[in-house]
Amino acid sequence: MTSSANDMLPPPSSAPWGGAGKALDGVRVLDFTHVQSGPTCTQLLAYMGADVIKIERPGVGDITRGQLRDVQGADSLYFTMLNGNKRSITIDSKNKKGLEILERLVKICDVLVENFAPGALDRMGLTWERVHQLNPRMIMASVKGFGPGPYEDCKVYENVAQCAGGAASTTGFLEGPPLVTGAQIGDSGTGLHLALGIVAALYQRNRTGRGQRVLAAMQDGVLNLCRVKLRDQQRLKHGPLTEYSQYGQGIPFGDATPRAGNDSGGGQPGWILKCKGWETDPNAYIYFITQAPVWNEICDVIGVPEWKTHPDYATPNARLPRLKQIFDRIEQWTMTKTKLEAMDILNKYDIPCGPILSMKELADERSLRETGTVVEVDHPKRGKYLTVGNPIKLSDSPCEVQRSPLLGEHTNEILSSVLGYSEGEISEIRASGAITAPEKPRPAAA
Ligand code: COA
Repeated sequence: MTSSANDMLPPPSSAPWGGAGKALDGVRVLDFTHVQSGPTCTQLLAYMGADVIKIERPGVGDITRGQLRDVQGADSLYFTMLNGNKRSITIDSKNKKGLEILERLVKICDVLVENFAPGALDRMGLTWERVHQLNPRMIMASVKGFGPGPYEDCKVYENVAQCAGGAASTTGFLEGPPLVTGAQIGDSGTGLHLALGIVAALYQRNRTGRGQRVLAAMQDGVLNLCRVKLRDQQRLKHGPLTEYSQYGQGIPFGDATPRAGNDSGGGQPGWILKCKGWETDPNAYIYFITQAPVWNEICDVIGVPEWKTHPDYATPNARLPRLKQIFDRIEQWTMTKTKLEAMDILNKYDIPCGPILSMKELADERSLRETGTVVEVDHPKRGKYLTVGNPIKLSDSPCEVQRSPLLGEHTNEILSSVLGYSEGEISEIRASGAITAPEKPRPAAA
């Protein structure tokens, strides 16, 4: 009999569900991330119980603290919504004493996560070789814009990744320019990929005892999410993509996966249709899928029962060249209903559809509050704000969302209780400038 991971496990806990700690209890993360991609990753790890220690530059912190500020004197929502459940320590990594503290942290952490521009961490002296030498168990995880290759030295933001990863060339309408999407698939998407790499590396470390490097490149992450578009690229060699509405409209295909408007990416044609109120409400629309198994029900609901048997409409293949005309007819029906009325009626017949929900509607949606996907937290400087809790629900690892830390809020606590510095040593550190912002020169006396 071969051994399995089961052999290493303790007996099943008899603690009540949710009473056996959190999934990542005991994992300490040195969080050197900023902006969005890295912070998304470390926030997820924190939601799952890791002790995430965010390193920030004294006096400045993560640049997003001050970006898109809506409340004077308070950290922006950009920052607060990406840095919940973390602790903040300020350390100047370019100060000698600061680097010494960082190296002490490296020795006692399990994971280092960073998303600096290529080379920045090396310039601080924290190369992989140095980190591995200080702590061979350390998992060093990075988000970069590109993997090794011609663009590896480039700085990258969300929309650059969407463009370089194939999302923009396949998003938008055929006759229009490439479009970026509102979902942050380059930043938050890559943060998610990185988080998976980290937990896999933690799991492997249980066997090997050693850490490893984890790299999630934003271009790779976006391409992974655009997998079906690379599928279509290869299908093009064998003929037109019949489920794209341009096929039905007789528009020839080029040599690359085209933009598909609101066509569904799968084998069941779909489109966004107007609902009652569309003239004034920009979100009075519904996504409607003409799923083949419920075609008869669709015909009955929209009032064309004769389409159930008509040779031009009865089968999926017969419908493909007529999708525009079919959706126009369905829209005549959806325009007589609000999106939620249409959803209610269609769901009774198992017809797949989705109302276009605005951010306002999502913020107010009771069920999302009840599941902890949308959470209200209180912040000492800005008051109450909404954030997105853990979208991944673990039945034995409940998530309690906490507010983001103030800049350097936990500096003393981490220096003393995590790193064991004495009061005297902390005073010396403070005097060295390693954890404090340089004082602004006083204006000269008149
Ligand atoms: N103490 C001292 N210096 C610090 C510091 C600290 N605690 N934290 C950061 N710095 C320094 C870095 O060492 C670096 O200095 P250097 O270039 O002189 O060596 C500097 O701050 C800026 O880092 P950088 O990452 O270059 O920031 P940027 O604002 O110029 O670029 C990005 C921002 C996002 C474009 C870039 O970080 C990047 O491409 N990251 C990888 C891809 C990525 O994650 N993009 C998505 C972001 S949402």
